[in-house]
Amino acid sequence: MKIAVLGAAGGIGQSLSLLLKMQLPAGSELALYDPAPMTRGVAVDLSHIPTQVAVSGYAGSDPEPALTGADIVLISAGIARKPGMERSDLFKFNAGIIMDLVQHCAKVCPKALIAIITNPVNSMVPIAAEVLRKAGVYDPRRLFGLTSLDLVRAESFAVDKLQQGVAAGQIPVVGGHSGLTIVPLFSHQSGVAPQEADMVALIEQVQQAGTRVVEAKAGAGSATLAMAYAALRFCLSLVRACAGDKNVVEYAFVEGGNPMARFFSQPVRLGCEGVVEVLDYQPVHPIEQAAIEQMLPTLNKEIQQGIDYALHVLRD
Ligand code: 2OP
Repeated sequence: MKIAVLGAAGGIGQSLSLLLKMQLPAGSELALYDPAPMTRGVAVDLSHIPTQVAVSGYAGSDPEPALTGADIVLISAGIARKPGMERSDLFKFNAGIIMDLVQHCAKVCPKALIAIITNPVNSMVPIAAEVLRKAGVYDPRRLFGLTSLDLVRAESFAVDKLQQGVAAGQIPVVGGHSGLTIVPLFSHQSGVAPQEADMVALIEQVQQAGTRVVEAKAGAGSATLAMAYAALRFCLSLVRACAGDKNVVEYAFVEGGNPMARFFSQPVRLGCEGVVEVLDYQPVHPIEQAAIEQMLPTLNKEIQQGIDYALHVLRD
């Protein structure tokens, strides 16, 4: 399989590429693209790690050599937050980048599974959908916004909070990937579910986790390492699904028929063509239900902002 990383010279891109080089199945091909001239060097650097994953690197303005023949495309390109910024503040800059890159995907690898890491995810995925639709190749099953980091964080914080030191199991996280739109469902935790006060605190901790990293990095960017791990996890699930494993379930921001929002992060069963089935995440605790209802206007606004932008630009 060929996996392309777009934005491969950035903080997430480099870490993700390292993890992929180490963990993709033997025989995989890893293609790195970033406009930065150093990208070829990142590929040379990685190629010295003795795994059976072939790495190539492409710089400059043309991502197509990296995309040709790609089965999976992971997009982390774009700028990151600085302290005081919300993910939505990145919209103006990153929207153009996503439009351009996805236009190349539509042309060169229209059947690829595309996972978008670039923020604001809630708006970038709708932009990608409209670009693919305009090109006549949109298949909602194949387009994902990556929200795995929220699950990674929820699982990690659940263990911290309960001080059990034992795995809390996967904690579902639904909705979107910005502030209040991130709704972790701690009532699904295996073992003892948290008390209501703890649940409220944990939900907020997951919602604010990205901002805490931005503050702690003090102007030098946002989460890169845990995000790279989360993206690796998601990519390996896509690879397993493509290899024929019928039991691969991930949470992702997809256009999956959810009546509450056109795009919604929810559990999906994966196959080689992307989403095979959207799964249920009920029941939810009343606190979680209230959190979902409260965030829906924000989620739908962020989705609509992406759609409006794409339709406006694509009109000409
Ligand atoms: C985060 O949640 C960067 O959106 C990313 O930290």
